[in-house]
Amino acid sequence: MSAILKSLRALSDPTRLRIMALLERNELSVNELQEITRLGQSRISTHLGLLQESGLLESRREGKRTFYKIAAPAEGTTREFIQLAVRGAEELAEHAADQSNLKRILGRRAQQAQLYFNQVAGRFDRSYGPGRSWQAFGQLLLRILPPLVVADLGSGEGLLSELLARRARQVIAVDNSERMVAFGANKARKNKIKNLEFRLGDLENPPIEPASVDLVILSQALHHAASPPQAIRAAHALLRPRGQIMILDLLLHNFEQARELHGDRWLGFSESDLHSWLEAAGFRKIEATVVAREEQPPHFETVLAGGEK
Ligand SMILES: C[S@@+](CC[C@H](N)C(=O)[O-])C[C@H]1O[C@@H](n2cnc3c(N)ncnc32)[C@H](O)[C@@H]1O
Repeated sequence: MSAILKSLRALSDPTRLRIMALLERNELSVNELQEITRLGQSRISTHLGLLQESGLLESRREGKRTFYKIAAPAEGTTREFIQLAVRGAEELAEHAADQSNLKRILGRRAQQAQLYFNQVAGRFDRSYGPGRSWQAFGQLLLRILPPLVVADLGSGEGLLSELLARRARQVIAVDNSERMVAFGANKARKNKIKNLEFRLGDLENPPIEPASVDLVILSQALHHAASPPQAIRAAHALLRPRGQIMILDLLLHNFEQARELHGDRWLGFSESDLHSWLEAAGFRKIEATVVAREEQPPHFETVLAGGEK
């Protein structure tokens, strides 16, 4: 049978005209069509099958649902057939009800997404969202890091250094533990990260040339320093003019066991201590803010402090 005859046969039924009119501008699932037309599922499916076979419709699956829409691109005779079908459907008694049901279903679709976000608004940062994670946000933020020379002081085995090295021009990771440095250097070699160098040294007197670095990071390292103000002064000396310091550390706490469990010298720092040490070292544009609080006791809080040389 020719394509024209197939189309004519497919459109020779009023229910199929209704379906064509509903799908003219929207893609709809079988369930939605059923709800709009109030026809049984098997009747709807038979009609859809016929329309698809004649080339007037196409379908796609999404999980357990099948969606139908006008076959693209609808040109020439097919386009004329579709226009005729829509005009024919307008003459049917069910047309007004179909259109108002269609409007309701489309409105509900839009509402469903809105409803969810309205419900979680205000606690979205704490609720589960598929694919949302701080790791993913971190990776995104890394992509906007300019090509800086970075010193990661008290780097440990270089978790942060390795990430930074993906975008930074050069990362110098300094740690006073020989084993940390050996482990980190080995790992960077294995991962073929050429712009990351590990150096053995003290964060109060880092083995880095003065005024050679754009960014100094002290991540959970300052509370190990014998003299935190001296470590901050040393960081200032490493920086080029307008260079930045970023300190991530624990907010002052009273969990004494941290000394034994984690080898901590200081039980965190207050925001004002960090602020005044940064100021005394010569930093400007200083900020010190609590950025995280742990759910589990003893509810450690993390403070982020920064400034510009
Ligand atoms: C808690 S870890 C933090 C590691 C890493 N910065 C991070 O955020 O994952 C502290 C690191 O600081 C190092 N460290 C402690 N005192 C130091 C000092 N005076 N100079 C240099 N590194 C030091 C330790 O060896 C350890 O690797």
